[in-house]
Amino acid sequence: MDRLIIKGGRRLKGEVEISGAKNAALPVMAASILAAGENSIGRVPDLRDVKTMGRLLANMGAEFHYEPHRAVIKTNRIKNFEAPYELVKEMRASVLVLGPMVARYGRARVSLPGGCAIGARPINLHIMGLEKMGAKIELEAGYVKATAKRLKGATIYFDISTVTGTENLMMAATLAKGVTILENAAREPEVVDLANALIAMGARIKGAGESVIEIEGTEELKPVNHTVIPDRIETGTFMTIAGITGGDITIKGCMPEHLHAFVIKLEEAGVGFENKAGSVRVIGPARPGAVDIETAPYPGFPTDMQAQFMALMSIASGASLITETIFENRFMHVAELLRMGADINFRGSTATVKGVKKLKAANVMATDLRASASLVVAALRAEGETTIHRVYHLDRGYEKMEEKLRSLGADVKRERGKRLTSLP
Ligand code: EPZ
Repeated sequence: MDRLIIKGGRRLKGEVEISGAKNAALPVMAASILAAGENSIGRVPDLRDVKTMGRLLANMGAEFHYEPHRAVIKTNRIKNFEAPYELVKEMRASVLVLGPMVARYGRARVSLPGGCAIGARPINLHIMGLEKMGAKIELEAGYVKATAKRLKGATIYFDISTVTGTENLMMAATLAKGVTILENAAREPEVVDLANALIAMGARIKGAGESVIEIEGTEELKPVNHTVIPDRIETGTFMTIAGITGGDITIKGCMPEHLHAFVIKLEEAGVGFENKAGSVRVIGPARPGAVDIETAPYPGFPTDMQAQFMALMSIASGASLITETIFENRFMHVAELLRMGADINFRGSTATVKGVKKLKAANVMATDLRASASLVVAALRAEGETTIHRVYHLDRGYEKMEEKLRSLGADVKRERGKRLTSLP
């Protein structure tokens, strides 16, 4: 397992180019199942999760070809309607093939994703929606089996706003007979990007980005031809890096409007912004002020930025309250930040962060994707050389992170560990 060695204390300066959004690329890749032909997707980031989705599609009989940063998927000969446990356990977003498979082929057998470090993350709402659309659902041996002669339009209310639940059912509805209404739908930019890709394929979708989405089913769709949006969480991570290092970073190829709530909180903490066309210059203070946050579905403060923001608050002048409302176990990074000298304690879903003057280098371990990003953020400020273990978590969502950091003046190197046959 690879390790990152980061020597902290430098003010990072310069320019960094943001990669395409992982959480937009994955559903758009799954949408290729909805049409026969050659699907072409641009600005697809070179990440482990993208390769996993590619393996899953190939396992179904599609031809998957990737060269930075384009994914080409030929879906003329899909003949295996299964997403096996071995692939789903590596990447929960594999469940995104469920809706398209049932919509196009009338059948699917997808492993239930199981829990992950940040929570149980069930897919009951995905299943509820497909049942409402007329699919017959059986749960057997850890798999969900769905069959339907042809899905029919339905009105589906989500008790909880779910991003991939909205995406799965929006895709399923594009080929259903009749109109589907999704209520309390997720409003994330990645949902809107998927809707735009589907509309370009010939789907009839209104209201994506609002909490009610209307989809009128059609008989067939054209292959995907779409370029995904920039990654707003990578953008937010580099904004936080400018904030914690007192740096001056111009982030290029990004859409700061997708991070409005987050930017407001960084501004309150004393981080400066200069917006330019398609890029933003971010200037960090010597020491950030303490700011309280509470995560919420979009357009609220993104849960995927909570861990990185906590690292920033760990050296703030004052105490801040950080409340996580989306996942039940998304404080795994706290124990690691404590090893670096942070002063944090949490009860239930709220953490109290008392800013300290200095963080100290330590051996720390990544536990999930955004926790690993939070450790990178902290290590860039800490005195001394921090070693971050299990950086395969980081590689899931950040393309060439150490190269981008080095181009900004960071002292970071990767130590190769022994190859893993399968990931824990
Ligand atoms: C998506 O996960 C993202 N992943 C996550 O990003 C992100 O943290 C999350 O949305 C919230 O924004 C992708 O888009 C691939 P949810 P998703 O369904 O769709 C509960 C990252 O860092 N729920 O919106 O799985 C669920 O347990 C990843 O890139 C149900 O109870 O999240 C959670 O508490 C991490 N039943 C809440 O809803 C369901 O059927 C929101 O989950 C579905 C969800």
